[in-house]
Amino acid sequence: MPVDVLLGLQWGDEGKGKVVDYLAPRYQLIARFQGGPNAGHTLEFNGIKHVLHQIPSGIFHEDIKNVIGNGVVLDPIVFKKEIEGLSKYGLSFRNLYISKKAQLIVPTHRILDLVYEKAMGDKKIGSTLKGIGPCYQDKIGRHGLRIGDLTQADFRQKYSSLIERHKKLLGHFNHEVDFEALNLEFFEAVELLKTFNLVDSEYFINQAIAEGQSILAEGAQGSMLDIDFGSYPYVTSSSTMVAGACTGLGVAPKHIREVFGILKAYSTRVGSGPFLTELNDSIGEYIRTQGHEFGSTTGRPRRTGWLDLPALKYASMISGITQLFLMKVDVLDDLDEIKVCTGYLSNGEVASTPPSETNLSDLEPDYVHFPGWKCSTRQLKSFDALPSALSKYISFIEQNMGVNVHMVSTGPDRLHTLIKDC
Ligand code: GDP
Ligand code: IMO
Ligand code: MG
Repeated sequence: MPVDVLLGLQWGDEGKGKVVDYLAPRYQLIARFQGGPNAGHTLEFNGIKHVLHQIPSGIFHEDIKNVIGNGVVLDPIVFKKEIEGLSKYGLSFRNLYISKKAQLIVPTHRILDLVYEKAMGDKKIGSTLKGIGPCYQDKIGRHGLRIGDLTQADFRQKYSSLIERHKKLLGHFNHEVDFEALNLEFFEAVELLKTFNLVDSEYFINQAIAEGQSILAEGAQGSMLDIDFGSYPYVTSSSTMVAGACTGLGVAPKHIREVFGILKAYSTRVGSGPFLTELNDSIGEYIRTQGHEFGSTTGRPRRTGWLDLPALKYASMISGITQLFLMKVDVLDDLDEIKVCTGYLSNGEVASTPPSETNLSDLEPDYVHFPGWKCSTRQLKSFDALPSALSKYISFIEQNMGVNVHMVSTGPDRLHTLIKDC
């Protein structure tokens, strides 16, 4: 069973990019299975920071195959910019493969995202405005375009029909669009995209499985943004849980081995939606500054708060997490006290599962308090060297979640990584 899956367990930005890049040498193939340019995955090594949006985080290991799976929505314009940016580092992309069944984001998807959000007023989702929702709507509505369509003779015709459909939708909004300029930029980017390896990725991946190659499936958005199980409607439009790796790559569940769950030592969220442990005070601001908690895709300040164990247990339950990776512990190094939410108080009662409704005004987090470790973790070289207050914090998380922590991350660089067997 050679397929491992790596998932963020919170609201995104857990450090998925860093970990995939770190683990990549253990695998022959890395595959993205959902999401699109809404993702911002950061990798740091040799003093350089890279932010990837659509390209899998194994791309800096040139002998490893990197696959963009059928569950992804791909924007050719963003793709072109990413390729141009990465080309400066001399990457060849010979091992980058794109599913013919992945959906295409067209420029009007981005505009629809914007006008829909504007129309929602203070109920807006806080979308990244990358066209994700409208593109997945077209996929489910069965009139989307796929990567495989790009090389067909009738592609321009199909494209025009989709744009006409979008023009009708846009007619309901007062929004000026320069379609000619958009089309020009789009088709220029499409020409570049067509030069890449466009494959039947489900066969490609299953062939690799049959050959016994090991595969790491890289989740894009966090579990609490899952279309079914996240804090709906404040979610993204794809399946970010383990099952998404099966449908987003064409991999049968029987091939899944480990399911790695990544979490920060605290919580963050970008965009709207409930966040019960949010800190709107100086500690929240401190965590934001210390952790550089600003969106990798949009630059928006991330909302910050304490760890929310019921939400984490829920995310772990729906995906069957087998190993935990605890990220960004260094951000809490100097705090006197750290809190963890273990339940929610309402009218004197404690609930231990996250509420599914979005009006949470009468819920208060029930916190367990921990003393801080008050020392720098950045230079630590092994689990044994962890300060005892941090070890206790980790044990508490492990006991509550019933899953062990196998990796602790103490900084953004590849080198700032402590690992137990995994
Ligand atoms: P992703 O979307 O899950 O890949 O995460 P992002 O890249 O959006 O956000 C994680 C941020 O934290 C990036 O800026 C990383 O460079 C950074 N990061 C990752 N791990 C650590 C860590 O252990 N400590 C610190 N201080 N930063 C980290
Ligand atoms: P990574 O891969 C954090 C959030 C948006 C918004 C909601 C819907 O870096 O973890 P969308 O553009 O998908 O329609 O937005 O989901 N969101 C993310 N938040 N990290 C991400 O990706 C996100 N991708 C989407 O802020 O609240
Ligand atoms: Mg991110």
